[in-house]
Amino acid sequence: MSDAKPFTPGHTPPPPMQDLVCYCFQVTEREVEAAIRLLGLKTIEDVNDATRAGCGCHTCWPDLESILNRCLRGQYKFDLTDEDRRRFAARHGTPRPVRPGQPE
Ligand code: FES
Repeated sequence: MSDAKPFTPGHTPPPPMQDLVCYCFQVTEREVEAAIRLLGLKTIEDVNDATRAGCGCHTCWPDLESILNRCLRGQYKFDLTDEDRRRFAARHGTPRPVRPGQPE
């Protein structure tokens, strides 16, 4: 028998556990990367402010630094979709426009 919980209309299912980077605030690696790319974040403090990731126990800070450094080198793990942009905009405000030649 499956442990999966039944779908409840209006309830957003939690993100897959393997993608969680910040357990305190349930922030996924994809959300962190999207914030870095869409908002042009440059520091861990920027990531904290934009996503709340790392604002609790700080256990995830090494992972956040790793994701930030990877993205700052232009090495992306996720292909951002329009759904990511819509979801990100709904949670974090409208992302800045992307200029040609700049990372998203
Ligand atoms: S796991 Fe990210 S602040 Fe605790």
